[in-house]
Amino acid sequence: MKAIVLVVAAAGMLASGPGYAQTGADVVKARGCLNCHEPDKKKVGSSFKDIAAKYKGDKGAAAKLIEKLKEGKGHMKATASDAELKAAVGYVLSTK
Ligand code: HEC
Repeated sequence: MKAIVLVVAAAGMLASGPGYAQTGADVVKARGCLNCHEPDKKKVGSSFKDIAAKYKGDKGAAAKLIEKLKEGKGHMKATASDAELKAAVGYVLSTK
C-alpha cells in the first residue's frame, strides 16, 4: 500500500514538472485506450462512464487502477508513463 502511495506521489510530481502537457483525454487517445474503450459506450471494454460509476465513492480506486494498468494485472499492460496513467485514470474516473 505504501508503495502505491509513493507511486502516485511520484506521478503527481512528474505531472507538475516541466514538459508535461498531456491531459487524460489526450493520453487515452495517444495510448490506444480508445481502441477498446469509449467515454460513454461499451466497446471491447466498458465505457469510461460505467467504470467511473463502478468506482464511485472508492477513494483508493485511482491508485488501484493505475497499478492494474501498470503491472498488466487483470488488464493488458499499458505502455504509458506513470504520469500519463495517472492523468488517464483521473480522466476515466471523472467521466460522467
Ligand atoms: C485491447 C483492448 C483494451 C485496451 C487497449 C485498453 N483496455 Fe481497458 N479494459 C479492456 C477490457 C476488456 C476491460 C475489462 C472489462 C471492463 O471492465 O470493461 C478493461 C477495463 C478497464 C478498466 C476498469 C478495470 C476495473 O478493474 O474495473 C479501466 C480503468 C481501463 N480498462 C482503462 C484503460 C486505459 C486507461 C487504457 C489505455 C492505457 C485501456 N484501458 C486500454 C480492454 C482494453
